[in-house]
Amino acid sequence: MLRLKLATDPRWAELVEGNIQDVLTDHAYCEQKAASSAISLIIRYPDLTELVQEMTALAREEMEHFQRVHNIIIQKGFTLGKERKDHYVNQLATFIRKDGHNPHLLIDRLLFAAMIEARSCERFRVLSENLKEKELAEFYRELMASEAGHYTLFIKFGS
Ligand SMILES: [Fe+2]
Ligand SMILES: [Fe+2]
Repeated sequence: MLRLKLATDPRWAELVEGNIQDVLTDHAYCEQKAASSAISLIIRYPDLTELVQEMTALAREEMEHFQRVHNIIIQKGFTLGKERKDHYVNQLATFIRKDGHNPHLLIDRLLFAAMIEARSCERFRVLSENLKEKELAEFYRELMASEAGHYTLFIKFGS
């Protein structure tokens, strides 16, 4: 369904367990960036009423995810910490056409968002199936389902 060419190696979950603080920080910022990009679509395409409505709901949901990840960070005795460079997202963003007046720009942005949602969904599945900490595994199962819904939403607007 997600049409990803490469699957994440399940052993990645072990690396996550050994590095949970950094992973939670990166995850929290991914949620914040998902909310920010939904807001920037609203600002760029104010006349696309259905898109504005859906992006409003999405921005709220992504910020709720952010808050839940932040709550886990606090529970574990950590603080959010600084955002780190996200090479994957930065590389992917280079495929978005730079010409602001290009009629295909919206499609590029929607597909870019869909790909990020697809990879999050796939990674959350790996975490939900492999993390030993039950509560965290359950949390990722729930997020996996909502990221799958976001992927579908962006594909719907992009097609
Ligand atoms: Fe999310
Ligand atoms: Fe999402």
